[in-house]
Amino acid sequence: MKILKTKNYDELSRVGANIISSQIILNSHSVLGLATGSSPEGLYKELIKKYKEGIIDFSNIKTFNLDEYKSLNSEHVQSYRYFMNTHLFNHINIDKNNTYIPNGLSINEIDECLNYEKKISELGGIDLQLIGLGLNGHIGFNEPSSSFTKSTHCVKLSEITLKANSRFFDKLDDVPKYAYTMGIGTIMSAKAILLIVSGKEKADILYKSLFGPITPNVPASILQFHKNLFVVADEDALHKINNK
Ligand code: GLP
Repeated sequence: MKILKTKNYDELSRVGANIISSQIILNSHSVLGLATGSSPEGLYKELIKKYKEGIIDFSNIKTFNLDEYKSLNSEHVQSYRYFMNTHLFNHINIDKNNTYIPNGLSINEIDECLNYEKKISELGGIDLQLIGLGLNGHIGFNEPSSSFTKSTHCVKLSEITLKANSRFFDKLDDVPKYAYTMGIGTIMSAKAILLIVSGKEKADILYKSLFGPITPNVPASILQFHKNLFVVADEDALHKINNK
């Protein structure tokens, strides 16, 4: 595991974007795993800047997102498809047919999950997976539980996640209760993982994830087993680790 400490969120976004850009420059046909939430917003802005400066080219890049709310259509402003289009895809030269996100409206949940896994395999697996960290240690929407889930599946969101994500909705009740997510196995199969974490409120869970016991109660703790994990976090998020 390599931990890169940044002064603040802006620097975190630049460093994270540099790592993704290196992957794109080294392999213009890369398969990227992408994430949503507040953590990657700045990083996506930096990627757009680099694209506009002619440093990176997305024409042959393929992407798979970690997760999507169940029951939201792709035009819903809180769907992760909408987030990805507005925060990244609409501003770069990626072919949207090469961007994959679970379909929240799929009528067959099992087929949706199987097809997602199949597509990832067909394209050779994920070269670099970007992830954020939930307040309860979730990655994607893999919530704390009694076991690690292997592949893409549909989950019931925990109270803490519903509450955390309600900041994007008018009210708590509007947050979808279920979501599709890559499994822990899907995430761990990525050839490299880039975890980005910002803010004091994540310091405790970041410490537990990187240095605590490996347990499905803290899903991100499994990342300790990954051979190629890069953590980019700001001073606030790392303060428990620095003080050890
Ligand atoms: C959300 C997403 C995750 C994201 C995490 C942290 O629920 N499903 O993929 O990484 O929670 O979000 P944020 O970066 O907004 O703190």
